[in-house]
Amino acid sequence: MKIGILEGDYIGPEIMAEAIKVLNAVSQKRKLDVELVDLEVSGKAFDKYGKHLPEHTLEAAAKCDALLKGPFGGPTEEINHPKWSGLERGAILPLRKNFNLYANLRESKVFKPLIHLSPLKQEVIDGVNILIVRELTGGMYFGEQREEIVNGERRWSDSEAYSESEIRRISITAFKCAMQRRKKLTLVAKSNILKNSILWREVFNEVAKEFPDVTTDYMHVDNASMQLVLNPRQFDVIVTSNMFGDILSDEAAVLPGSIGLLPSASLGESSFGLYEPIHGSAPTIAGKNMANPLSMILCIPLMLYYTFNMKDAAALVDNAVEQVLNAGFRTKDLFSANDDPSKVLGTVEFGNAVVEAVLKS
Ligand SMILES: NC(=O)c1ccc[n+]([C@@H]2O[C@H](COP(=O)([O-])OP(=O)(O)OC[C@H]3O[C@@H](n4cnc5c(N)ncnc54)[C@H](O)[C@@H]3O)[C@@H](O)[C@H]2O)c1
Repeated sequence: MKIGILEGDYIGPEIMAEAIKVLNAVSQKRKLDVELVDLEVSGKAFDKYGKHLPEHTLEAAAKCDALLKGPFGGPTEEINHPKWSGLERGAILPLRKNFNLYANLRESKVFKPLIHLSPLKQEVIDGVNILIVRELTGGMYFGEQREEIVNGERRWSDSEAYSESEIRRISITAFKCAMQRRKKLTLVAKSNILKNSILWREVFNEVAKEFPDVTTDYMHVDNASMQLVLNPRQFDVIVTSNMFGDILSDEAAVLPGSIGLLPSASLGESSFGLYEPIHGSAPTIAGKNMANPLSMILCIPLMLYYTFNMKDAAALVDNAVEQVLNAGFRTKDLFSANDDPSKVLGTVEFGNAVVEAVLKS
């Protein structure tokens, strides 16, 4: 298996190093043939080539089976600095678009030993495990943008359009995911107002006929955002558009208690996938051995599962992470008053604990 490494900026290289250690441990246990390819991107590529995503990086990435990506970006106060401005449209969106990665999967899973970290009451959050399947290469974020002067004032607009084929393929991905889980799928849109949402409902209902074992329902996006905090356990898989998915997946991301716990997968038609934490490059904690590496480490089981179809190897990492958390080990962001302060570990030490648990299992 050939894996491209885009380590990213600030905490990116720190958490990537831990994920690679864990991958090497799995590889040792399961005798995998892993080749890692370093790919120049984001801040480092900009310093060297004046570009965030050079052509040669894209060419080398295309020869890989999967990409592991750390967070890109600099301090928010330097947002207008050429090194950091335009990263979203100059590197992150083109990476997804170039490989036609139209499905973004984010799982918000509450870990039992961390249940008290959730902003919601324990009885509401217990057992929550939601997968949001977000359309990633269409809709508002790729729609026509206009800047006009109308009646002497600026009028700027963004437009949203979806074709049947775009909705069909993401719906199929979501139904397939639901089949692997609790077989419940909720479509979220805004069909009481938006024309393209009506198309989402029609195409989704057509695809549903091919998956009779999956129970489906529909929610308007405003209700869905409310239900995510009122009764999150009702959801198994949610499928939605690019913009609604962006907002809802961030809302769902706070349920487990720390942004440092959440990985994501971006997939297309083939098994090729891009795996990355949901958070940014956290410049203020970079270089302090403080970042939680779990968001990056948990990209490894996602990659083993979705790209390489190695469910046992994926479970090996998931179980190792649960063991380390059950044993009371925490990174700083996961620490709370009831925890043992002697079990708060740095990024490297936490990574070592997961590696040890993988090798022992
Ligand atoms: N996909 C991406 O590459 C991506 C996503 C989001 C933000 N960004 C970029 O990241 C940079 C910083 O953005 P931001 O500060 O708004 O958001 P951020 O996600 O980097 O940080 C938000 C908060 O979460 C904390 N945090 C994030 N990851 C953590 C981890 N693994 N362990 C412990 N704490 C963690 C940070 O310390 C901070 O308090 C910006 O340049 C932004 O554009 C990139």
